[in-house]
Amino acid sequence: MIKLKKVKSAKTMKVKEEPLVLHTLRGMKDILPNDQPYWEQVRRTTERLSREYGFLRLDTPLLEFSNLFTRSIGEGTDIVEKEMYTFVTRGGDKVALRPELTAGNCRSYIQNGMNVLSKPVKIFSTGPVYRYDRPQEGRYREHYQVNFDAYGEQDPILDAQMIQVAHRIIQTLGIKSVQMQVNSIGCPACRKDYRELLVNYLESKKLKLCQDCKRRMGTNPLRVLDCKEDKCSQVAALAPQSVDHLCEECRVHFKTLLEYLDELDLPYIINPHLVRGLDYYTKTVFEVWSSAEEGKKLSLGGGGRYDKLIKMMGGEDTPAIGFAFGVERVIAEMKRVQAKPYKLPRPKVFLAQLGNLAKKKSLRIFSELEKNGILTAESFGRGSLKSQLRIANKLGVEFTLILGQKETLDGTVIVKNMITGAQETVSMDKLVDLIKKKLKADNVVVYHN
Ligand code: HAM
Repeated sequence: MIKLKKVKSAKTMKVKEEPLVLHTLRGMKDILPNDQPYWEQVRRTTERLSREYGFLRLDTPLLEFSNLFTRSIGEGTDIVEKEMYTFVTRGGDKVALRPELTAGNCRSYIQNGMNVLSKPVKIFSTGPVYRYDRPQEGRYREHYQVNFDAYGEQDPILDAQMIQVAHRIIQTLGIKSVQMQVNSIGCPACRKDYRELLVNYLESKKLKLCQDCKRRMGTNPLRVLDCKEDKCSQVAALAPQSVDHLCEECRVHFKTLLEYLDELDLPYIINPHLVRGLDYYTKTVFEVWSSAEEGKKLSLGGGGRYDKLIKMMGGEDTPAIGFAFGVERVIAEMKRVQAKPYKLPRPKVFLAQLGNLAKKKSLRIFSELEKNGILTAESFGRGSLKSQLRIANKLGVEFTLILGQKETLDGTVIVKNMITGAQETVSMDKLVDLIKKKLKADNVVVYHN
């Protein structure tokens, strides 16, 4: 921590000290250049697969009216009760940093009349979300999600396709072994009866539950089923299961989904305790879990159907389903299983300059190479040829272009092959074509042409 200079306020002439904290906020992290190849791999893979499966990209603001989240995610959920970053703006609006992407997507779907698009309307979104959680491994106050939602289709084939997309993403990222968990928590009609049954059962075991679960019994009894406390898990193990109490429509929906998954040969397990932490879900819920044996297990992603949400928000009656992956957790898993990050293209050419005249010309030459898709490195701040060649060697480039006083006056440049050491002098206007030809002959991809 460093201290700023003492500041005197003109009015009071009091001495103020404002310490500058050179640290991210608790639970927030910089994504450093070293880690970017993993992020790039996730970005490229999810963007490509989203296009291939017919998703349209949607970006919504980080800030929304806070009741958008409280109403959709639910008053009794941990996210709304404990984890929202809420504040009042100077204009008096009560707003919140988004704790997830689905509520904003639904708001945008209604606000922009996307219901006129042909169904299902598939939406891909990604970006940071904020939850004032207790920071620990895999649990941050700012984390990134890649999020997939689809509106307007109630057929369980869409549920199967969403689970397939989630599975494809993970496999394409090189995480070969995950556990896909599925469950059905029914619709509001059958859940009402099931909830009553569950509360009766939990009442009889109340003394064995943790403090949080005793409270949840009144607000959100289904959440007791996925409490991580040992004593609550023991109670949950013998609790009535939602899949045994589905109405006919929900039962057929779930059965058909499982048939589609079998048809896909997609490995899954039914987890009767899977209920999810957001209130908007109906029928299908699913999560993707790391198959790590050791350490604390965390879900990599999760989602489900939310057939009532759009209508509840004031839109048309529109069935919907979606899921999101937590990017930090996916990357941690990629590292654990040694999956390959994205390989950033490396420069194959270095541009060295010697003397003031050459230095002046070098920016233009660099730009010419860049415009022609030749990825070039430089160290324009350095004057000595020796130190520039040292950098070129370190970067492992194939060619160094040397521009000295004489070459600048002659309109030429020296092309040095860094592998053989051979040098040739070429005219400046032939340079781009020559380098392209040489790189092509060496099978080097010209990077953006
Ligand atoms: P969620 O399960 O709350 O679902 O979050 C999705 C994923 O985000 C989790 O599986 C996890 O990988 C990651 N995640 C959640 N909280 C944290 C955290 N504090 N730190 C790091 N990673 C975290 C949703 O958000 C739903 N909106 C998903 C959805 C989309 N449902 C329908 N459409």
